[in-house]
Amino acid sequence: AGTHDVVVVANRLPVDVTIGEGGSLSFERSPGGLVTALAPVMESQGGAWVGWTGKPDIDVAPFEDETMTLWPVRLSEQEVAGFYEGFSNATLWPLYHDVIVPPEFHRAWWNTYSAINRRFATAAAQAVAPGGTVWVHDYQLQLVPAALRALRPDVKIGFFNHIPFPPLEIFTQLPWRRQIIEGLLGADLVGFQRPGDASNFLRSVRRLTGLQVRGPQVTVPGHWSRPDRTVRAQAFPISIDSAAFDRLARTPEVQERAKQIRLELGSPEVVLLGVDRLDYTKGISHRLKTFGELLEDGQLRPPEACMVQVASPSRERVEQYRQLRDEVEVTVGRINGDYGTLGRAAVHYMHHSYPMEEMAALYSAADVMLVTSLRDGMNLVAKEYVAARSDLGGALVLSEFTGAADELTQALMINPHDINGTKAKIMQAVTMSTQEKRRRMRSLRRRVLTHDVQRWADDFLGYLAMSVPTPPSDL
Ligand code: G6P
Repeated sequence: AGTHDVVVVANRLPVDVTIGEGGSLSFERSPGGLVTALAPVMESQGGAWVGWTGKPDIDVAPFEDETMTLWPVRLSEQEVAGFYEGFSNATLWPLYHDVIVPPEFHRAWWNTYSAINRRFATAAAQAVAPGGTVWVHDYQLQLVPAALRALRPDVKIGFFNHIPFPPLEIFTQLPWRRQIIEGLLGADLVGFQRPGDASNFLRSVRRLTGLQVRGPQVTVPGHWSRPDRTVRAQAFPISIDSAAFDRLARTPEVQERAKQIRLELGSPEVVLLGVDRLDYTKGISHRLKTFGELLEDGQLRPPEACMVQVASPSRERVEQYRQLRDEVEVTVGRINGDYGTLGRAAVHYMHHSYPMEEMAALYSAADVMLVTSLRDGMNLVAKEYVAARSDLGGALVLSEFTGAADELTQALMINPHDINGTKAKIMQAVTMSTQEKRRRMRSLRRRVLTHDVQRWADDFLGYLAMSVPTPPSDL
């Protein structure tokens, strides 16, 4: 057993690694809501974070960071291809997002996924103190809970799925569906974004294992000296560090930058904004098509109206992501060819990621935020936009297929597949009175500011602490 009372297991470590000349490594903390929320717990309880550095073949022993121990898991180039690019992002990701693109099923990828999940479980088992708590994150690591329980029956295990959990009819396409369910059932608490995800999971449990499911609880029978245990599945909608984002957006530097952005755009009357990882789940093509039609109809006219699309690079070695990039860039080029003029693009497209300060300035500068996901576990961009608008200005157009739609009910809700409906909602946002914008934004902000990522982590860990620990079988 290890020495850490709390261990987080996630595919990625919260650091960016740079490889210097001569192969020297440097690690820099990458900011993110999850790290911020967990920092206080990790600090007070001597926590460890088990994860991959994001680069192949990096072999580093666990080391101390500011607030916790970082515990790197090594992946070879071939393992990255099979586990990360393959099974995680070309099998599970599309399968769990309504099969927007066809998932690929390859037995070799599955074998690598299982082996790497065992590697993460072994690292967690080495790190965690007797009777400690392990919190496993996301679809890349669904076999970790059961693998860890086999090694360490004395610890409490929580699992949180950050992405949707698919309906039974889709989930059952997966040749290894039963193993995934059994992997997850190794946890004491399985958390999801929406209540619908939890019920999809429970339905799959019932149908694929025949175990008894009562409300949110599954009873897993014990064997030999091991008693029965209970697994609970429930929704815990994730959020952002709302107060920090609100504070950042209010700083004079960010407000100044927001004004400058509008000047750089040529002082248009209407700025529409999209911010996404470049991912086919985000509905970027649907959004561009809708915007293009509004220009074609003359409902919006450049240069008075323009759109800014930030698409941060993502999973660039996966074929479906390469295709999407080509498709988006062709569409942007076509719209600008048709409607742009010298020095005045209709769509300002950036394939970069930006620091939080620049994002806060963009949110502050945008009149209408467009979130058009075809399927999205939560969508934190919607919450960031709201947190950035302490001026109560701006309007949020939000896809009903996001987890955020459950909470942000005062947004203008759209079905992104319904192009006419979305056009109408965008125009409603563009022409909305200041008074109505303020009324809606006030209500959205109340939700986001009172339900932040800290509350989310406390809720999850609080529930996990209440779950009865399994006594080790040999005591
Ligand atoms: C989603 C997933 C995360 C993942 C992130 C970025 O939010 O839920 O698990 O880390 O996308 O994707 P990447 O593949 O770059 O880690």
